[in-house]
Amino acid sequence: MKTTLSLIKADIGSLAGHHEVFEECKNVAKEMLQNAKNSGLIIDFYVTACGDDLQLLMSHQKGVDNPEIHELAWNVFKAAADVAKKFKLYGAGQDILKEAFSGNVKGLGPGVAEMEFEERPSEPVLFFMADKTEPGAWNYFLYKVFADPFNTAGLVIDPKMHDGFIFEILDLKEGKSVELRTPEEIYDLLALIGQPGRFVIRSVKRKDGLIAAVASTQRLSLIAGKYVGKDDPVCIVRAQHGLPAVGEVLEPFANPWLVAGWMRGSHHGPLMPCPVEKAKPSRFDGPPRVISLGFQICEGRLIGPADMFDDPAFDLARQKANEMADIMRMHGPFEPHRLGEEEMEYTTLPKVLEKLKDRFK
Ligand code: F6R
Ligand code: MG
Ligand code: MG
Repeated sequence: MKTTLSLIKADIGSLAGHHEVFEECKNVAKEMLQNAKNSGLIIDFYVTACGDDLQLLMSHQKGVDNPEIHELAWNVFKAAADVAKKFKLYGAGQDILKEAFSGNVKGLGPGVAEMEFEERPSEPVLFFMADKTEPGAWNYFLYKVFADPFNTAGLVIDPKMHDGFIFEILDLKEGKSVELRTPEEIYDLLALIGQPGRFVIRSVKRKDGLIAAVASTQRLSLIAGKYVGKDDPVCIVRAQHGLPAVGEVLEPFANPWLVAGWMRGSHHGPLMPCPVEKAKPSRFDGPPRVISLGFQICEGRLIGPADMFDDPAFDLARQKANEMADIMRMHGPFEPHRLGEEEMEYTTLPKVLEKLKDRFK
């Protein structure tokens, strides 16, 4: 039996600006997914939120990109957006970019990470969800986990991992992807993914083909042609027994790195790992947050969750993130806090240039 995990998310409106998902919106999602579970469409589900993004974790046997599962997620987001509208929540319906559903939510606004696999005798899986940042935020993380032996001891020690992994990289500008093998092609890989605004890791598999990680790659601005909030990506990572251990998967978050997003999706800031309860960005609409829920998958059932960053071992990472946030904030509207020219093209900056063009001598 093959199990499919689908993590589909959208910002359907939130409470007190872009801060947190309203309880009633989550309740509508839970009710609808419970009905889908009762009818046998999905095996199991879990509803949560990261900042202003409603997160639907679903397990089923229908494979990735299944129209029925995508339609279910789409209908949940529309219903939750209706609740948001009823209470005049902020940005109600924000990520419902198109009206009509056409078989797949990709390209309509929501972010999607899905994987299908044969369950191993024991199947630990971590779901990562971030707010106030973009899909390229996972590049550094996935590289560290699957290609850096200073992070992942198993790359050196575990014979099943010793051959390395295959990274699938998507070029968001050209819409094409390329597969790169590690460790032999790490320099080529880094040449691409070091530019996270353009090249994003879509999946990682072991050299024997076993799928290990998948990430959402949707960029809202490219869909809408204008700035409509950050993409707030999600990612699913399988762990243990021939894959990086849970602790190796979490280890990169001990040292926060800078990602694009934060206020108005236009600033670099540290990605702060936190428990679900604390994933409610407020300072300057941030700093960007990441949460991780751990489950054991049992014949498609989601056993859990464990709140992986609810651990004092990440207190120092949170403190470092706050210190980094101060350093970045001090720069105000200056780069490198503010994003570079290419990333700002959907904001007011091109209009300022246009307005001043005759005054340039
Ligand atoms: C970032 C984000 C917020 C908003 C900001 C302005 O992803 O959602 O930082 O960009 O609060 O929002 P508006 O333009 O809706 O007032
Ligand atoms: Mg929002
Ligand atoms: Mg968000």
